[in-house]
Amino acid sequence: MTLSMKDEILKRFLLANNTPISGQHLADELGISRTAIWKHLQTLQEEGYGFETIKKKGYLLSSTPDKVDPARVTSFLTTERFGQRIHYLEECTSTQIIAHELAKDGAQDGTLVIAETQTNGKGRMARPWESTKGKGIWMTVIIRPNVPPSQAPQFTLVAAVAIVNAIKSLYKNFTPTIKWPNDILINGRKCTGILTEMLAEMDRVEALLIGIGINANQQLKDFPESLQSIATSLSIEEHEPINRAQLVATILSYLENYTNVYLSEGFLPIKALWEESSGTIGKRIKATTLREVIEGTAIGITESGVLEIQLDNGEIKGVYSADIEL
Ligand code: BTN
Repeated sequence: MTLSMKDEILKRFLLANNTPISGQHLADELGISRTAIWKHLQTLQEEGYGFETIKKKGYLLSSTPDKVDPARVTSFLTTERFGQRIHYLEECTSTQIIAHELAKDGAQDGTLVIAETQTNGKGRMARPWESTKGKGIWMTVIIRPNVPPSQAPQFTLVAAVAIVNAIKSLYKNFTPTIKWPNDILINGRKCTGILTEMLAEMDRVEALLIGIGINANQQLKDFPESLQSIATSLSIEEHEPINRAQLVATILSYLENYTNVYLSEGFLPIKALWEESSGTIGKRIKATTLREVIEGTAIGITESGVLEIQLDNGEIKGVYSADIEL
């Protein structure tokens, strides 16, 4: 990951774990003057980072604003490709829109677009997506798998298992489940949505835009009234503040890993992971598609990620896209 000089400095402080770093040491290591170091620290202070001067030892990072900036995300990153390029924005219309432009301009596989807030966040089925400033994770990962367009929907399921397992690895006070195809619920309330969009030619995917929206640090009062009975956040369920940068890096790591598994071994291992975390399979559901309403028991997903519903007369119907009520 190529970071700006300011972010290189910040990353060193974030990794220093409460030990002071001398200005001279930073200047030598980064090949710039002590005055330049001091100027970058000033800028960081203006952005909300607090530094103390410790006599004879240097500067100590004493407080940090809660941001998902590249330095912070990178300090947790263990991936080879995903998140190695990060476009960070305080505010944007939608990370999907920005990612679309970047993908058309040739952005590399694994590029991350992430914002503190979105003014025009997009949900599935052209619904708006609430993106409270600084509280959630609003991000899009651009991936460039060498697959035909027909395989694109499976990546939504790859993303769902990556996110659910990243969440399970970090938080222990609740169990998230996947609601087909792409919602992550905790205790029946939605905390995450995924929107997969595609740039493609007839026979080849050019780029997939995996849009991920996660309610992380909202309290109930932060949600609009219409969402208060159906939404939740990780922090509400975990009873702790969520380190968003750590979660972003963990998701990128699971997403890279499961994308590799999918590309080398196919959908079966992903299907198994998906079923392991599913809150839909085995339940009676009502699926509203564009054409009809289907009621029955969800019995599984097929190789291509289609949800199979068994009707009361025994007939099995496959659903590609629908709103599901449990
Ligand atoms: C859903 O309807 O459940 C999908 C919601 C996806 C929201 C995310 S937030 C980041 C990315 N940018 C957007 O505008 N939408 C996705």
